[in-house]
Amino acid sequence: MPYAHITGWGMVVPEKVLTNDDLSQMVETNDEWIRSRTGICERHVAGEGETSASLAVEASLRALKVAKLKPTELDLIIVSTSTPEHLFPATACLVQDQIGATKAGAFDLLAACTGFIFAVNMAAQSIRSGAITNALVIGSETLSRFVDWGDRNTCILFGDGAGAFVLQADEEPGGVLSAVMHSDGSGGDLLVIPAGGSKHPTSAATIEEGLHYIRMDGREVFRFATRVMARATKETLESAGLTLEDVDLVIPHQANKRIIEAAARGLKLPIERFMINLDRYGNTSTASIPIATVEAIENNRLNAGDKVVFVGFGAGLTWGALVAEWTGPLPSERRVYPGWYRFWARIRSLLLRVVRLIEGILWGRHS
Ligand code: COA
Repeated sequence: MPYAHITGWGMVVPEKVLTNDDLSQMVETNDEWIRSRTGICERHVAGEGETSASLAVEASLRALKVAKLKPTELDLIIVSTSTPEHLFPATACLVQDQIGATKAGAFDLLAACTGFIFAVNMAAQSIRSGAITNALVIGSETLSRFVDWGDRNTCILFGDGAGAFVLQADEEPGGVLSAVMHSDGSGGDLLVIPAGGSKHPTSAATIEEGLHYIRMDGREVFRFATRVMARATKETLESAGLTLEDVDLVIPHQANKRIIEAAARGLKLPIERFMINLDRYGNTSTASIPIATVEAIENNRLNAGDKVVFVGFGAGLTWGALVAEWTGPLPSERRVYPGWYRFWARIRSLLLRVVRLIEGILWGRHS
């Protein structure tokens, strides 16, 4: 049975930065309040032309370059997102087309901020079963497009960005060791975008009421988060046959520094064992864990052989954790330039559209 190794990683955030001082010009808040209640100092927000798919493509190409894997070798692409480009088609299909992953099946997964953990687990299980060899998992969000910039309860929290992992099959033991996934839909109303779906399709009335924006009961979400983080971490370690002493680094969902500190207290682990970078990015939802992972690697806090726990929570409610033995790229002499594939993918995509047009004319659909 092959093991599912994490062999590539990449992240990207939009250029535009919004500081706490910028926010204090927009709503009644201030830098001191935001820092002390959340730990956030600034966040990145998407500019014109930047979307969940465009960020996902950039992060993916970086991850493929690290793994030395061609897009054409991918079997599966999962995009975890709560801010897809459209209700359909899936953002994953747009990414598949734009990177030229010609043989990959692609779909979106929605489990809010926990989504990246769920998606990595799904990809790992597919590899472990022998069904596939190479997978790309992306967490990508443009939450700034769904934030009410007049609501100080939510607009201070969120940021945009994307992160990606490549997972590959290998006979060498290691990689994803275990994961737990949990949900409690009874808390669905605590963090929700009420309209724009099939229950309340967008209308003048839903827009008038602001139902297309994020609504959140911050205190309840805070209470829920502090309850589940430590519990999920212990569960996944137990199912991997490991203990807290084995853990080199915990990479938690970056929502609020106080939530992470509560998890550290609950686990009786020093806070230094946790990766925290929400001060510069805010809560990028499902992208926060891969973004923090890339920075942990760049800062030498995560190295081959380390045991790392990813743990998160979010709307749904959802929560989960995953433990992995960190691998790094599989040994390979070859050089891969995934960026080239973007160029050829564009031409391929255009040709496919032209062929479809010609077929339409030949079969009489465009007469
Ligand atoms: N600036 C200044 N004051 C603010 C404010 C802001 N941006 N937002 C709220 N306040 C005020 C409140 O109105 C309240 O005033 P009051 O006491 O006069 O009513 C006071 O600050 C305290 O509000 P409270 O909601 O109790 O603050 P808090 O300490 O719970 O912090 C959150 C609020 C949102 C930061 C915190 O609850 C949180 O992080 N929750 C989890 C949210 C989350 O992680 N969501 C994403 C999940 S993936």
